[in-house]
Amino acid sequence: MIERIVTTSSTPDDVTEVELEVTLRPKDFANYIGQERLKQNLQLAISAAKKRGEPLDHVLLYGPPGLGKTTMASVIAHEMDATIRITSGPAIERAGDLASLLTNLQDGDILFVDEIHRLNRSVEEILYSAMEDFKLDIMLGKGPSARSLRLDLPKFTIIGATTRAGALAAPLRDRFGMVHRLEFYNPEEIHKIIERAAQILNVQIHPEAAQALATRARLTPRIANRLLKRVRDYADVNGDGIIDANISTQALGLLEVDELGLDPSDRMILTAIIDNYDGGPVGVETLAALTAEERSTIEDFYEPYLMQIGLLERTSRGRKVTHKAYKHLGKAKPKEQSSLL
Ligand code: ADE
Repeated sequence: MIERIVTTSSTPDDVTEVELEVTLRPKDFANYIGQERLKQNLQLAISAAKKRGEPLDHVLLYGPPGLGKTTMASVIAHEMDATIRITSGPAIERAGDLASLLTNLQDGDILFVDEIHRLNRSVEEILYSAMEDFKLDIMLGKGPSARSLRLDLPKFTIIGATTRAGALAAPLRDRFGMVHRLEFYNPEEIHKIIERAAQILNVQIHPEAAQALATRARLTPRIANRLLKRVRDYADVNGDGIIDANISTQALGLLEVDELGLDPSDRMILTAIIDNYDGGPVGVETLAALTAEERSTIEDFYEPYLMQIGLLERTSRGRKVTHKAYKHLGKAKPKEQSSLL
């Protein structure tokens, strides 16, 4: 797979990047920029839970990758003065794995389950009574001698995160007291996030350069921070470490990220629809085959942003590029059928 500078996935193979993300992550609401409505809702729920001396209700956070679901979970834990344990759907393979996680929690602990839509069925079913009644139902043995055992669990909070709320079974979704979507950030918020990160990293960045990065960061903090890091590398090697407009233009040109934040892969998807299907509509499976990407990669990583900025539309008959996409790519729009008659 081609390495994408604008990928929204975190890149665990790059240790320094993980460290960077951790240090740049805000710890509390006061330092968390954006997601104002979500913060208000959570602050209210947290104050109420604290006042009653109860654990926070279970929270489900969903939305495109890179918008801060994990960060928000750790902010919630910090604001609740709670310990957070972090795991993910695919990491909990068997019922026993979940049982061991849950029985090791303390009252008030938070269990963060990333990619919760990827829990397997048998694990998910155990989670139902754990979330609802703080009870763990386990089966001992098999066949006629099998017995079930019910254990009390500490009063914990689950924070689930998923890129696809629709992929979650309804009984699981219904057990979350709060379900919130993380929205794309607006350009001003991304600008502030870049300035905050530059300050933490002790790098000087001119306002025009911060602006250039902000417009290319796909409204996504993870990408904003990554662009900043790459441009800082460029400034260190080719200049005096200060990121001015000139340096940022050169570095961004090298990264092939255009002024809407599109990289060659995005442009290939849009071009494929235009060149092969007259702009669409085209089914997502066909699009996946055409671009040699997984369907889920297209749905989770590419589409949300392309739709957010109005270059791509989802219709009942498939994906369609917009007038704005033709314009952005400098392509001529085919004549409408009606105008040919
Ligand atoms: N770094 C990454 N996301 C952030 C956010 N939402 N606010 C402040 N800093 C961030």
